[in-house]
Amino acid sequence: MPTAAQPAVQPILWCRDHLQLLDQRKLPQAVNYLSCRGAADVASAIHSMAVRGAPAIGIAAAYGLVLALRADVDGYDRAFETLAASRPTAVNLRWALERMGAVWLAGHDLEALEAEAIRIHQEDLEQNRRMAELGAALLPANATVLTHCNTGALATGGHGTALGVIRTGYAMNRIVRVYNTETRPWLQGARLTAWELQQEGIPGQLVADGAAAHLMASERIDWVIVGADRIAANGDTANKIGTYALALAARAHGTRFMVVAPSGTFDLRCPGGGAIPIEQRPAQELTEFKGQAIAPAGYDAFNPVFDVTPAALIDAIVCERGVVMLPTTDKLAALLR
Ligand code: MRU
Repeated sequence: MPTAAQPAVQPILWCRDHLQLLDQRKLPQAVNYLSCRGAADVASAIHSMAVRGAPAIGIAAAYGLVLALRADVDGYDRAFETLAASRPTAVNLRWALERMGAVWLAGHDLEALEAEAIRIHQEDLEQNRRMAELGAALLPANATVLTHCNTGALATGGHGTALGVIRTGYAMNRIVRVYNTETRPWLQGARLTAWELQQEGIPGQLVADGAAAHLMASERIDWVIVGADRIAANGDTANKIGTYALALAARAHGTRFMVVAPSGTFDLRCPGGGAIPIEQRPAQELTEFKGQAIAPAGYDAFNPVFDVTPAALIDAIVCERGVVMLPTTDKLAALLR
């Protein structure tokens, strides 16, 4: 039975000798857990998107490192690199591994390493709750919001980032209407966000990605609220493909644009969006649907799965450390100092 401290949706279950991951490829039709027993299993679950969402893959990788070093105390470098290479864009992955690495290299202590992974997991939930309060406080009364991809409990240690703001805003009666994009091609919105909203009893409405600008033109949308996979030092933000188009449409229609992300998503080593690696995934994710061809045989596809929204299009970045309006390099440096 979920409690206040334990969220209803638990995508990551630490079982000490193995890790259980809710297989997000199967949702919403089936709720199945995958068992991971080492770094290779965890890296494969991340790469194949059984577990996805920037904070969630960082948490999973942290537990993966514990499993790897329990099996082979000399396997640090190999396990670190295997996990770090599983997906390139979300910096939370490397951030969590570097945090774990600092603990391991300080004393080669397996108990301390496990405790650090559990701390990373728990802290993420606490940070999400804090960001949810901060983000919800930016909403006007009777707000209508639009979100993209899935940034809920499934993508994090619980509650969610952008979806956490929506959950809390709805619970506070500040939000009257929620729209969420389907998020092609992987359908994180249609499959996962819709499932989470329904589980919470929050009435959402799905919109095709291509309908978002029309929606903003035909109805007042107060805020677009999204998560992030990496925020560069100047505030440029990488997030699920289609986020940039939403930000452009929002600016054109007087809709405000909020990015919600914990401090582990910021990459101050990255000066601007141009330095963020953008993951490209196989053409088949676009040319096929559930194994069935939807494009002519042999037709190629360009499939970047993230894009960069320039800081100039962002009205607010919400982090557990505070809120930055109209982000700049100086404001973000001060926030994260
Ligand atoms: O490819 P995905 O599903 O891992 O992409 C997820 C996103 O883009 C999310 O918006 C981001 O990771 C933030 S999740 C709190």
